[in-house]
Amino acid sequence: MGRKFFVGGNWKCNGTTEEVKKIVATLNEAKVPPPDVVEVIVSPPFVFLPLVKNLLRPDFQVAAQNCWIKKGGAFTGEVSAEMLVNLGIPWVILGHSERRLILNESNEFVGEKVAYALAQGLKVIACVGETLEQRESGSTMAVVAAQTKAIAERISNWSNVVLAYEPVWAIGTGKVATPAQAQEVHSELRKWFHANTSPEVAATTRIIYGGSVNGGNCKELATQPDVDGFLVGGASLKWDWEWDHVFRI
Ligand code: G3P
Repeated sequence: MGRKFFVGGNWKCNGTTEEVKKIVATLNEAKVPPPDVVEVIVSPPFVFLPLVKNLLRPDFQVAAQNCWIKKGGAFTGEVSAEMLVNLGIPWVILGHSERRLILNESNEFVGEKVAYALAQGLKVIACVGETLEQRESGSTMAVVAAQTKAIAERISNWSNVVLAYEPVWAIGTGKVATPAQAQEVHSELRKWFHANTSPEVAATTRIIYGGSVNGGNCKELATQPDVDGFLVGGASLKWDWEWDHVFRI
């Protein structure tokens, strides 16, 4: 089956040129298994993408944190998928909960973005996740299934998609999901793929976890059979990890 482990660093709206250079220097020295064992992706804000791409070691890749839903033109403030392709940026994060909740991105809008980005040749880290209220009311699976369905209705090929399960209550709160909580949702998502896409998509699509992951808690999370990696926020601004601990080996 062989789902390659995936570790992404989402820097969100953080960093100065100097800070970015320091983070990249740390990453460039990290002892990490080769790219056929683990994929490492960092996602700086748009303005730092060329800088990071130029300085970053060649076995790591770069992702944008968003892109526009259609071809560029009169859309002030947006960045098109075509522009990212033109810059040689291979990945984009779409549907992060901060964009869904703060910028009101709907499931459908995210689904359309994913389809458009894939059609332009980008690979996509698509995020799903429930709020605390939704979890407490027992609707976690209904929420993440609806978010995933809005994507599945618009794409047929999942080979360039990584699904990031990021419970909103765990993001930036220090309250990481327990390995069992993460595994439960990941395994349900895999069942959802099985029932609604194909057994192959279910078996091969990487489902990664995000929400207060750090160098201390990642190892235990990585022992879970359906946790195929991480999307890391705060802790990726330092990357002071013992990388040997990060990966399921
Ligand atoms: O995309 C990563 C994310 O939202 C998790 O952030 O700071 O909780 O690791 P953080």
